[in-house]
Amino acid sequence: MRVAIIGTGYVGLVSGACFADFGHTVTCVDKDAAKIEKLKNGIMPIFEPGLESLVAKNVKEERLFFTTEAREAIQDADAVFIAVGTPSRRGDGHADLSYVYGAAEEIAQLMDGFTVVVTKSTVPVGTGDEVEEIIRKTRPDADFAVVSNPEFLREGAAIKDFKIPDRVVVGTDDERARDVMRELYRPLFLNETPILFTSRRTSELIKYAANAFLAVKITFINEMADLCEKVGANVQEVSRGIGLDGRIGAKFLNAGPGYGGSCFPKDTLALTKTANDYGSPVRIVDTVIEVNADRKKAMADKVIAAMGGSVTGKTIGVLGLAFKQNTDDMRDAPSLDILPALQAAGARVVAYDPEAMKEAAHLLKDIEFVDSPYKAVDGADAMVIITEWDQFRALDLNRLKTAMKGNVVVDLRNIYHPDDLAKHGFAYTSIGRPAV
Ligand code: UDX
Repeated sequence: MRVAIIGTGYVGLVSGACFADFGHTVTCVDKDAAKIEKLKNGIMPIFEPGLESLVAKNVKEERLFFTTEAREAIQDADAVFIAVGTPSRRGDGHADLSYVYGAAEEIAQLMDGFTVVVTKSTVPVGTGDEVEEIIRKTRPDADFAVVSNPEFLREGAAIKDFKIPDRVVVGTDDERARDVMRELYRPLFLNETPILFTSRRTSELIKYAANAFLAVKITFINEMADLCEKVGANVQEVSRGIGLDGRIGAKFLNAGPGYGGSCFPKDTLALTKTANDYGSPVRIVDTVIEVNADRKKAMADKVIAAMGGSVTGKTIGVLGLAFKQNTDDMRDAPSLDILPALQAAGARVVAYDPEAMKEAAHLLKDIEFVDSPYKAVDGADAMVIITEWDQFRALDLNRLKTAMKGNVVVDLRNIYHPDDLAKHGFAYTSIGRPAV
């Protein structure tokens, strides 16, 4: 199959590389000439494990192409994927669909023969109808079908999530389009991946419902963690105790500093906007948004409390800035709330992150960035772990203790065992677990 992908962001680039690796011929189109030039030279715009080599391999084997010229890519394509950004619109929180609609117009002008237009970007219910309308208006004679095919990949695990997904969701009533989508995803049938065919609107809603449900799950366990701290219980054991119930499931029950990233905050907000517009509010998601925002702010207070109520004149060594491990993405990262609050309370902050420091430097002010975890805590009064990078899990505790001036450790990801830290003389605070 010949595939064109409009937009080389996370979803577009990963989907393009993976479809090419399945054997399809894929052209990724982006208006950003500098980005396309870099991609042609094998330079990735994002950090994602395994992506660079996957792109290199498929470029070399001439299944994956990058261009700023949409014409040829779209003309030849059996399927054109719209994978452009849908950021929260400033002011009202609705998803900004201007890039999606712009792509629809461009596709309409250039497509040739029966073309399946697939929205892979996360778009509110009804966007597919709008895209169809735009194409029909622009090219009344066009032979096409608009399909919703949401992407469920996680940053940091994107290639595996694309190639071995729990399911593929395809929203269309058009039989020819279903055949094209079946053919595109045929390699997944080998792992018996379920492909769910639904109406377009249902498929659009599935994506929001999935992300919102996961945000609810995380927020639920975060609130349980707060309760655990009050009643002297252990949230990790609560997670295990409830997660073993097959109806609940063990995943996404790790308590932490609150969810961030490019999807959950934006998609939960967009879902509640749509729901309110239709007069059918999803109150549980409204609450989750509020609780999560409060939580990120409360994490700074937790650090201040662990330091005896004041951080004025204190130095805090921070490990991890990205919203989670294995990414350089800083969007809605808890660190963006926590660090400025600590600075406002009078602390000096020294920070290390394996991948996100470049991005963080644009977003955070007056932070001293260093190139190792040990340097971050050198002479510090406290160490705060915000992101659960693997390389933070087995630090040399004796070396840390010697390097630090104080002994306070605040672990917002529960990657250490309270006993171990206590044994080494640290005053250790974590999330939802009794102090030793
Ligand atoms: C998410 C969805 O998982 C994915 O299906 C969708 O396509 C895009 O949004 P992503 O944002 O990449 O993916 O990261 P994810 O691993 O889901 O984590 C999201 C946030 O939740 C992070 O801030 C993470 O730290 C937090 N989280 C996750 C928890 O705090 N606890 C958990 O148990 C799981």
